[in-house]
Amino acid sequence: MRWIEVNDYQEMSRQAASLFEQQLLRKPDSVLGLATGGTPLGFYEELVRKYKQGYFSFSEVKTFNLDEYVGLASNESTSYHNYMEENLFSQIDISPDNIHLPNGLAEDLLAECAHYEQLIQQYGGIDLQLLGIGVNGHIGFNEPGTSFHSATHIVTLAEETRIENSKYFHTKQEVPRYAITMGIETIMQAKQIVLLAFGEHKMASIKRIQQDGMSEDFPASCLKEHPNVTIIYGK
Ligand code: GLP
Repeated sequence: MRWIEVNDYQEMSRQAASLFEQQLLRKPDSVLGLATGGTPLGFYEELVRKYKQGYFSFSEVKTFNLDEYVGLASNESTSYHNYMEENLFSQIDISPDNIHLPNGLAEDLLAECAHYEQLIQQYGGIDLQLLGIGVNGHIGFNEPGTSFHSATHIVTLAEETRIENSKYFHTKQEVPRYAITMGIETIMQAKQIVLLAFGEHKMASIKRIQQDGMSEDFPASCLKEHPNVTIIYGK
């Protein structure tokens, strides 16, 4: 595990974008695993800035997002589809066919999970996966107690997650109760992982990864077994 402590948010975003830049230069047709949330906003800005300056292209890139809420249409402002469109996809030269997020409106959600998992394998797996971290240690939407052997699945969101994420909705009642997320095993199969955490409120989670052993009660602790993880953090 590589630990990079940064002094400010900007530096975290730049360091993360630089790892993605190196990946795209090494392999222009990379399969990227992407994340949402407040933490990676600066990272996406930096990535778009470098793309616009001509450092790399997304024309051959494929993306798979970690998760999506169940029951939100992709054009709803709070959906992760919409977040990605606004913060990245609408600003780069990626082909819409190469963009993948779980469909939270699928009629058969179990079939959607199996299909998503199979699609990732079909593309040869994820080369570089971006992660944030929830205050309870969740990665993607894998809440405490999720099996380390889980594939893409439906989750019931923890109450603390719904409260934490309610800042993106008008009211807490609006926060969906369910989501589809890549599983812990799906994430662990990525060849390289970068986890971003910024702010005082995330430091307890970072310390737990650093100091505690692996436990399904703290999902991000699975990363301790991954051969190529970089954690970029600061407060
Ligand atoms: C959501 C996402 C996670 C993300 C987490 C932290 O629950 N599903 O992938 O890491 O929020 O979000 P933030 O960066 O806003 O703290």
